[in-house]
This record gives sequence, structure tokens and C-alpha cells, in this order.
Amino acid sequence: MREAQKKQRLHRGEEPRKIEIQGDAVVGSGSMQGDKDYVGATPSWVIWQLLSRYTRENDLVVDPMCGSGTTLDVCRDLKRNGVGFDLNPQRPEIRLNDSRKLPLDKESVDFVFIDPPYSTHVDYSDDARCIGKLDSGGEDHGKAYYRAMEDVIREIHRVLKPGRYMGLYVSDSWRKKKGAGGESMKGSEFMPIGFELFSIMRRYMTPVDIISVVRHNKKLEYGNWRKAAEEGNFFLRGFNYCFIFRKV
Ligand SMILES: C[S@@+](CC[C@H](N)C(=O)[O-])C[C@H]1O[C@@H](n2cnc3c(N)ncnc32)[C@H](O)[C@@H]1O
Repeated sequence: MREAQKKQRLHRGEEPRKIEIQGDAVVGSGSMQGDKDYVGATPSWVIWQLLSRYTRENDLVVDPMCGSGTTLDVCRDLKRNGVGFDLNPQRPEIRLNDSRKLPLDKESVDFVFIDPPYSTHVDYSDDARCIGKLDSGGEDHGKAYYRAMEDVIREIHRVLKPGRYMGLYVSDSWRKKKGAGGESMKGSEFMPIGFELFSIMRRYMTPVDIISVVRHNKKLEYGNWRKAAEEGNFFLRGFNYCFIFRKV
């Protein structure tokens, strides 16, 4: 563990923790966190890093799009009070709720983590309110997607206590336009979701940091992606943003 990290944690009165990282999951007090089989699950070590730095024991941590419950597992391991919501809850303790309206009091939450849908890549549920059904490009140039995400961000800002933090994990997106031949750049559409969401978040909160989370995704080595990238002259997308904001 790095010295600065150790000091920061000791400063907060906690013992430095021994962690082990296995692939995309953190093994803390002996249990795996998150559901590896849930498509779109957040790597638990991302959440672990955020909660270790920006929260203390017994803090209330909310995940408005909790999916398979990775945030709740990390909270349990770090002794934070985790509360999760989702339109398609995967566990009984995750409450069914549209994240555009959280059933929580104003300024009652110590930290919010959220990993929203990145456009329409994953079919999360049949619920028409799922933001994963809104295209971040396409005919409306993502207007409906960004409007929905602004509603979520405004709600996060409402429930956060002043002076406390939030983390949003997201990636940009790229797709081949319908009917375009091959993998060429001409027939493609780039959707800068990270920059767009960052600029929306800035209207509500103060940016603290932008972390580039490199996935070293083995899948990029399969299915001729590398060959297609060379032939089509495009970059392989190998990172996610983790935006950290503070409510003033
Ligand atoms: C990337 S996944 C979250 C993954 C989660 N962090 C995990 O580790 O399993 C995005 C989630 O957003 C949920 N979602 C989409 N629109 C929503 C909405 N309007 N309100 C609440 N949840 C929503 C989806 O059901 C999906 O579970």
C-alpha cells in the first residue's frame, strides 16, 4: 500500500487494510464482491477505492442504479451503510426505484456512487423507464439520454450533504452506423458520453478529479477487434472515466 494512502486512512482512525485484487474483484474480508455474471457489473475495486478515500465507517452510501449490488457488497466489507436502488433489482435488499426521483430526504446522504447505462449497449430490463433504452447518439443526438441523466444528477445533488462527494463511472461509446460497410471511420458514430456527462455534472457540483480506469480488457484481443481497428483506422476503447465531484 502506498504511504500516502496509509496515512490518509490512519488519519481517519482506521487500521490500514490488507486487500487483494483478483481480476476485476476485490477480496476484502474473505468475500468476493459483485456478480461476475451480471452484464455491466462495476469492477468492485473502483468502488472500494472511492469509499476508502471519501467516506468513513457508518457513512450512508447510496447507489441509485445498483444493478447486481456491487456497491452494497463493498459497503458491507468497509462497514458503510449501503442503500441501493434499481429499476431491475437483482437482490431483495435493492429497492425498485427510478433514479430520477429518490425516496430520500434532502442533504441526507454521505456519498453517492453511480454507474449508469452507456447508451443502448445492454438490454437491462423491459422497464420503459430504463435509461439504457435511450440512445446517446442517433436521430435526437442523445437529447433524451442526456435529459434523463441530468434528472438523475440533479436528484443526486439534492440528496447529498454539502461538502460530501460522489463518483460516476462511465465510458464513451462508438458504433458503426447502420448500413455502413466494413469497420471504416466514415460509417461510424462516436458518442463522447464522458465529456457530456462531466459538463452536466459541473452545473451542479465542483469537480475534484477525473480518473481514467484502464480495464486491460482481454475481450479486445478476441473476435478480430485488433485487426478491425488496424484496418478501419480506429482506436480500441480500453478505459472508463471515474468522475469525482463534491457538493459545495
Ligand atoms: C451499468 S448497470 C449498473 C451496474 C452495477 N453498478 C453493478 O455493479 O451491478 C446500470 C443499471 O442502471 C439501471 N437503470 C437504468 N435506468 C434506470 C433508472 N431510470 N432508474 C434506476 N435504475 C436504472 C439498470 O437496470 C442497470 O442495472
